[in-house]
Amino acid sequence: MSLLNVKDLRVEFTTPEGAVTAVNDLNFSLDAGETLGIVGESGSGKTQTVFAMMGLLAKNGIVSGSANFKGQEILGLPERELNRIRANKIAMIFQDPMTSLNPYMKVGNQLAEVLVKHKGLSKGDALVEARQMLDAVKIPEAHKRLNMYPHEFSGGMRQRVMIAMALLCRPELLIADEPTTALDVTVQAQILTLLNELKRDFNTAIIMITHDLGVVAGACDKVLVMYAGRTMEYGSADDIFYHPSHPYSEGLLQAIPRLDSEEGALPTIPGNPPNLLNLPSGCPFQERCHRVQEHCRQQAPALTAFEQTRMRACHADLAEILEAS
Ligand SMILES: Nc1ncnc2c1ncn2[C@@H]1O[C@H](COP(=O)(O)OP(=O)(O)OP(=O)(O)O)[C@@H](O)[C@H]1O
Ligand SMILES: [Mg+2]
Repeated sequence: MSLLNVKDLRVEFTTPEGAVTAVNDLNFSLDAGETLGIVGESGSGKTQTVFAMMGLLAKNGIVSGSANFKGQEILGLPERELNRIRANKIAMIFQDPMTSLNPYMKVGNQLAEVLVKHKGLSKGDALVEARQMLDAVKIPEAHKRLNMYPHEFSGGMRQRVMIAMALLCRPELLIADEPTTALDVTVQAQILTLLNELKRDFNTAIIMITHDLGVVAGACDKVLVMYAGRTMEYGSADDIFYHPSHPYSEGLLQAIPRLDSEEGALPTIPGNPPNLLNLPSGCPFQERCHRVQEHCRQQAPALTAFEQTRMRACHADLAEILEAS
C-alpha cells in the first residue's frame, strides 16, 4: 500500500469574479521514503494542492476528491485530528521561512517547544534533541546557535532551521514548498544534498514543490508536471528529465541552465500562464505550445497512460516528442 494516495483532488475558490479551479482532478501516489516533485510555473496550483491535503486552504476554497494517508482519509478531517497528523506524521516547510519562525524567540526555544508540546519531553531533553537536529542539518556550532534569534541566521541557515524543525517529530512525510528558491545556487545545492541525506537516514517520504525542473533531477524519484491546475505529465524523474513527453516539460527543461552549454540567453517559454477565470477551451497550454495543432484548440487532451508507468495530457504525436529529446 502506498504511504499517500491522492485521487481526483480538486480545489475550487469562490471569488467575486467567479469560480476558479486551482487544482483540477490530480492523481498521484507516494511510497515510504520516496520523493515526488511537483513542478510548474507560478500559479499552476502547487501550493494549493498540498494546502488542500493539510487542511490549510483559505476560507473561500472548497476541496473534493480523496487523500489517503496510511489508510486514513485526511481530507475534511476535524481540526483536532489534523493537528495531530500535522505535528507527528506530515510536516511542512513553507515557501517563506521567515514567516514560519518567531522573530522574538531564540531558535533553540522554538525547536524545543515543538518537542515539549507534541512529544511531551522536558525542556532540558528537548533542547538536547534540538541541538542534535541542528547538527543533523549541518548547522555549525549548533550549541551556540540555539541561543540566537532567527535574524542572526543567513537565509540558507534559516532554511536549515526550518528543515530541522520539520523533522523534529520524525514525520513520515515531509512537504517542502520551494525549499531552495530564495537561496543562491551553491546553498541550494547544499540544501538538496541535505534533504537527500535526511531521506536516506530517516526514510522520510518527501513532496518537493518547485518551479525548477533542474531541482527535480537530482532530488526526486517521480515528478508531476502541473499547468493551470492540471497534470500535464506524470512519471519517473529520469523519464521526464531525459525523455519528456509533453511540450510544457520540454519548455521547462530548456529553461534550465546547463554548465556544458555555450549558448548565451536561456530560452524561456513564450507568454504567460492563462488566467484561471478565463481558460481557453481545449488545452490550457495551447497559446504557448510550439507543437499546437488545430485539434488542441477544441478539445482538452485527456490524461492518458503510456509505457506502463507514465501519463500525459497532450494531443501531439508521442513518438515525435520522445524522439526529439
Ligand atoms: N484564496 C484564493 N482565492 C482565489 N484564488 C486563489 C486563492 N488562493 C490561491 N488562488 C489561486 O490559485 C492558483 C494556484 O495557486 P498556488 O498558490 O497553488 O500556485 P503555485 O503553483 O504554488 O505558485 P507559486 O510558484 O507562485 O507559489 C493561483 O492562480 C492563485 O491565484
Ligand atoms: Mg506556491
